[in-house]
Amino acid sequence: MAKTIGILTAGGDSPGLNAAIRGVGKTLHEIYKIRVIGFRDGFRGLAENKTLQLEPNTLSGILTIGGTILGTSRDKPHRMLMDGETRNMTDTIAANYHAHQLDALVCLGGGGTQKNALKLKQAGLKILTLPKTIDNDVALTDTTIGFDTAIGIATEAIDRLHSTAHSHHRIIVVEIMGHKAGWLTLSAGIAGGADVILIPELPYTIELVVEAILQRVKKGKNFSIVAVAEGTMSEKEIATLRTLEGQIEASEDKMDRKKARDKLTRMEAKRANHTLRLAQQLEMFTGLESRVTILGHLQRGGTPSAADRLLATRLGSACADLIAANVHGVMVAARGAKTQPVPLEDVAGQRKLVPIDHPWLENARRVGTCIGSSVDDKG
Ligand code: F6P
Repeated sequence: MAKTIGILTAGGDSPGLNAAIRGVGKTLHEIYKIRVIGFRDGFRGLAENKTLQLEPNTLSGILTIGGTILGTSRDKPHRMLMDGETRNMTDTIAANYHAHQLDALVCLGGGGTQKNALKLKQAGLKILTLPKTIDNDVALTDTTIGFDTAIGIATEAIDRLHSTAHSHHRIIVVEIMGHKAGWLTLSAGIAGGADVILIPELPYTIELVVEAILQRVKKGKNFSIVAVAEGTMSEKEIATLRTLEGQIEASEDKMDRKKARDKLTRMEAKRANHTLRLAQQLEMFTGLESRVTILGHLQRGGTPSAADRLLATRLGSACADLIAANVHGVMVAARGAKTQPVPLEDVAGQRKLVPIDHPWLENARRVGTCIGSSVDDKG
C-alpha cells in the first residue's frame, strides 16, 4: 500500500512555512509517490481530526506566501483546552494518527514544538521535525526558517527610524521580538547600525547606555537608536529576580514563599512595560526626547526572504528523503550547505541563546555600538 505522511505547523507562525510544506510535499509526491495529509492549526488539528488534503496542486503557488496554509496554534498535545477543560489529548492524537494509517508525522515548529514532538515520539509515533522560528533559538541547527526574513523586516524598521530620529533629535527605542534570545535584535541591530543593542543574554546597566548616548551628543549626534530585545532585563532587574527565585526555593514558610511569589508576579507584570520604562529613563537621564516603537508581529508577517525560501526547500526536501529511508525521531537541522538529522532527545528543552563570547557582539563593540554591559567575552 502507498505510504501516507501527515504534516502540521505549530507554535507562532514564521515566513517560509509554506515553502517548507511545499518542499516536503512536492518531494514526497514527485520523487517518492508518497501521499501527504495536512492537519490544521497545529496539534489541535490532529486531536480534532481536522485535515487538508495536500495534493500537488494545493502545493503549487505557495512558495512565496507568508503565514501557513495549514494554520497554527500553540496547543500542546498533553495539555489542550477542550470544551472548557484542559485535557491530555495524546491518546486521541495517537488514535487519529493510526486511523489515517500515517507512516510518519512531520511537525514544523520552534522550541516548544520540539518538546511536544518528543512526547509524541515517546507515545510511539514516528515523528520528524523542521526548525522554524523568527527567534533562531532552536538548538543544534545553524539557523531556523523565518529568522532571515525577520532580520530583514527589523533592519528596514531601524533604517526608517533613523531618519525620523535624526530629524527630531530624539532617542527611538525599538523593541524587537526574540522571546528570551537576542539573535534577532543583535543581527538587525548590527545590520541597521543601531547605536545601542540590548539583548537578554547580556543584562544592561542604564548608566552605560546613558553614557553612550551622551557621548554621541558630545560628537554632535543628538539622536540615537536603541534596539532592545523583548526579553531584555537590566542588571538590577536580574538581581531582584534571582533574589526572589532564591527566596521561593529556600523558604520553608508557606507565607514567605507566597509573598516572594506575589512579588515575582508583580515584577513580571511590570516587565511588560519594560521598553516604555527604558525610554522614560533615557529621556530623564539624557534630556533627549524619547519615543518607543514596538515592531511586534510585523516581524512574522509577509513574504519570506529568498534565504528563507531556500532554507525551507532544502530542509523540506531532506526531510522527505529521511521519510523515504524510514528515519524518524529526528529534527532536520541545517549544517552549512548540508542538512543533518538530530535526535529529538538532543534538541527538546534546549534553547540556543547568544553566547556572550559570540563574535557578533565583538563586531558590534568594534564599530562603536554600546551593548549596555561592561561584561566582555571572558565573562
Ligand atoms: O516565538 C516567536 C515569537 O514571535 C516570539 O518572538 C514572541 O515572543 C512570541 O512568538 C509572541 O507570541 P504570540 O504570537 O503568541 O503573541
